[in-house]
Amino acid sequence: MNVLEVIARKRDGREHPAEEIGFLVGAYVRGEVADYQMAAWMMAVCIRGMTAAETLALTEAMVASGEVLDLSAIEGIKVDKHSTGGVGDKVTLVAAPLAAACGVKVPKLSGRALAHTGGTLDKLESVPGLTVELDPDRFIKQVREVGIAVGAQSPRMVPADKLMYALRDVTATVPSLPLIASSIMSKKIAAGADAIVLDVKFGRGAFMPDVAAAEDLAREMVVLGEGARRRTVALVTAMDNPLGRSVGNALEVQEALDALGGEGDAELLDVCLRVTREMCDVARVSADVERVWRSGAGREKFEEMLSAQGGHLERGLPVAPVKVEIPSERDGYVEGIDALEVGLSAAEIGVGRIRKEDRVDPAAGFIITAPVGARVSRGEPLVVVHAQSRELVDRVAARVRNAWRIVDHEVRRPPHVLARVDKDGVSRPD
Ligand code: URA
Repeated sequence: MNVLEVIARKRDGREHPAEEIGFLVGAYVRGEVADYQMAAWMMAVCIRGMTAAETLALTEAMVASGEVLDLSAIEGIKVDKHSTGGVGDKVTLVAAPLAAACGVKVPKLSGRALAHTGGTLDKLESVPGLTVELDPDRFIKQVREVGIAVGAQSPRMVPADKLMYALRDVTATVPSLPLIASSIMSKKIAAGADAIVLDVKFGRGAFMPDVAAAEDLAREMVVLGEGARRRTVALVTAMDNPLGRSVGNALEVQEALDALGGEGDAELLDVCLRVTREMCDVARVSADVERVWRSGAGREKFEEMLSAQGGHLERGLPVAPVKVEIPSERDGYVEGIDALEVGLSAAEIGVGRIRKEDRVDPAAGFIITAPVGARVSRGEPLVVVHAQSRELVDRVAARVRNAWRIVDHEVRRPPHVLARVDKDGVSRPD
């Protein structure tokens, strides 16, 4: 097989046989296909698209490029959960322990903050002593004993994605549905769970611009998951505004603890309970999720998980030395909070990374005091910025204030969960 023929086939809009895609990905990972050849092929994919069969073949070839986690030592149906990324998105920190408290086995590999989006691993690492570097034996033992573990993916898993993603980033080939879907699902499939619940976000703070694009991605990922014999369900959820009342690492861990303790933003709780119910359903665990949540068992499970990973909550979460309120410049109602602007400002004060090698600040972030729908008066705080210095606050203050859209009329919070996608198609909750 010749790589030039493979590139030419996609350039001309013809379909690849599965073995051709296997050849291309395998040869690329071995260094036998050059970056410029892979980039040319991926650009052809961006323009021509891929059939469902091609996308599945690509996903399988990516999975085969590295190690696959064998979770057979854990009894029962193992469920993974994945979010396509957002601002203030602490759903994993609430839904995953709650599902474990309901009896679901949750082996979860997570990612780090990148650009304006937060990362579950960075949030967890704000707990003193906690590690996310769990070798497979420790990871599996913890899921068997505690019911849940959240760790970092080994670099030996899906090396093809690491190489291809880095290349996509610098060749304008990131926004292609089959490339995004195969990138995400290859990592989920290699992580070894039997079932996957996806939270596909759309809007200003998300990867997908609108609900239609998010539904397309959700459908594509469900087809890939089912094609790899993993029961897969996706919820399509809004990310125009930050989710919940905090954006930050320790701040979001605290919000998750509060939410699991029964208190929290209604929208956050709604998404978390829905995701938990989906996790129970795919695991065939029948549980009254709301009752388990009210009992506090989810919070106990979260604390047990943090402690199993070396975390010491009793030492206290890190606290920023500087806290500054950003006041509203006018009276009115909060119509929206631009999640992208909030996410970029958060990265600027250390919540996330501007460059990959940057260190995150566990204490930095925002506490939203005027959420969407709130009535505010001029001079009242919209948000409290937590940072290491006044200089950092000053750097983002105007941008953060301008993220709030304040109008004269009353505002109702828009619906948050817009669609549910499974192998039978799309449904839209009332
Ligand atoms: N997240 C991924 O893991 N891959 C993509 O291509 C996009 C988002």
